[in-house]
Amino acid sequence: MKRMKLGYFLTGFGHHVASSRHPDALVHGGMNLTKTIEQAKLLEQAKFDFLFMSDSLYLDEKTHPDMFTFFEPISLMSIIARETKNLGLIVTGSTSFSEPFNLARIFSSLDHYSDGRAGWNIVTSGINNTAKNFSGVNNADHDLRYDQAEEFVDISKQLWDSWQDVSPKRLHSAGGFFDEKQPEPINYKGDFYSVRGPLNIEQSPQGYPLLVQAGSSKKGTAFASKHAEVVFTAQNDIDNAV
Ligand SMILES: Cc1cc2nc3c(=O)[nH]c(=O)nc-3n(C[C@H](O)[C@H](O)[C@H](O)COP(=O)(O)O)c2cc1C
Repeated sequence: MKRMKLGYFLTGFGHHVASSRHPDALVHGGMNLTKTIEQAKLLEQAKFDFLFMSDSLYLDEKTHPDMFTFFEPISLMSIIARETKNLGLIVTGSTSFSEPFNLARIFSSLDHYSDGRAGWNIVTSGINNTAKNFSGVNNADHDLRYDQAEEFVDISKQLWDSWQDVSPKRLHSAGGFFDEKQPEPINYKGDFYSVRGPLNIEQSPQGYPLLVQAGSSKKGTAFASKHAEVVFTAQNDIDNAV
């Protein structure tokens, strides 16, 4: 029997542009930790497959009111990981404004905290002025951001694999690296990144987080078909979406 998978896109006040003004809107919306945890627990009870939290790294007068203030979502998911048991935890991480070593390590940690429920929504961050928060001026061009994302994901996978078949217990009891299988450097040198590796975290329960992507452009859908296990689409008719 085919079963529908249910996911929930959690935002502080809701997706409607005026939802924060509704008389029954949550106090403090995206920064109401207690209510956020309550909602995650409700989703779990209701048998949802996953909770998704988006992210943006920029604030100005055009920002959706729901995104004026909200917690950094990966650390928030880490808390939710300890408050739930079965819910999938998908959260956004930008390949344009983080380093592969940092993000691979963070998602591996989330996968550990949650016993294998982490998912990474891979975004290239389209809002142009975001670069201004990261010592730049303009974001890299759309297609170039996807080229960078290719390398980023490639490196992340190699870093996650760098602990494959290594016994951390043996490593610790030997008090150092020894002759058997060790976490090996990846020695990656590409157009955008140079990363020695290995990762300094043991392999997580899933090995990799679930990879999720929401690109709609030609480059974006090609990227998704190569890497993504879940694809988000915002198309408004089913023929366009499939
Ligand atoms: C359900 C959904 C969630 C998204 N979440 C984010 C997000 O958290 N952060 C972000 O910068 N972009 C997000 N996006 C935008 C996409 O990453 C992507 O940039 C957009 O769909 C346009 O595709 P393209 O970049 O291939 O042109 C989301 C899109 C969808 C449909």
